[in-house]
Amino acid sequence: MKIVLIGFMGSGKSTIGAQLAEQLGYTFVDLDSLLLQQNPSFGDIAEIFTKHGEDHFRALERACVRSQREAQQTVISTGGGSIIQPENIEQLRAHGGLLIYLDTSFAIIQQRIGTETSTRPLFMDVDKAKTLYNTRRQLYEDAADITIQTDTSTPQEVCRHILSQLKALT
Ligand code: S3P
Repeated sequence: MKIVLIGFMGSGKSTIGAQLAEQLGYTFVDLDSLLLQQNPSFGDIAEIFTKHGEDHFRALERACVRSQREAQQTVISTGGGSIIQPENIEQLRAHGGLLIYLDTSFAIIQQRIGTETSTRPLFMDVDKAKTLYNTRRQLYEDAADITIQTDTSTPQEVCRHILSQLKALT
């Protein structure tokens, strides 16, 4: 099975993805980390945005998503913007990919991210980030097979919730 976590920046995709993969004995792939491994001339994601712009980042992101099309026994945590490109949704869904949306309110996201915005170029201006959040919500909902509310849960609780939903599917 290929489990794909989607959701806005700060919704816990990487933390929860790593825990979920460990519990399932699956491989864990963080797409932003993989993208940097595939493009070693860049130090971080922010550098790609600064030097080459968002469109270039989205092209690299597309290639990175495509590289995981056939992944199995894998939990994939996506970058928050991966689902804005319909081709990515198709690639993530291919080969039985199950898309799980970690639904977190903007207030909680803001608390979690705090001032740690240097590696998140699209969170440097909070008002713009909020607008982005509002325009993306429907996209996450439409793409998701399963939606999990995370506001009042620890990563461990979210993990347990996902595992019980997975059991119900099999
Ligand atoms: C982005 C989210 C980031 C990263 C890039 C763009 C977005 O990933 O891919 O900064 O467009 O929402 P995280 O969701 O892991 O922060």
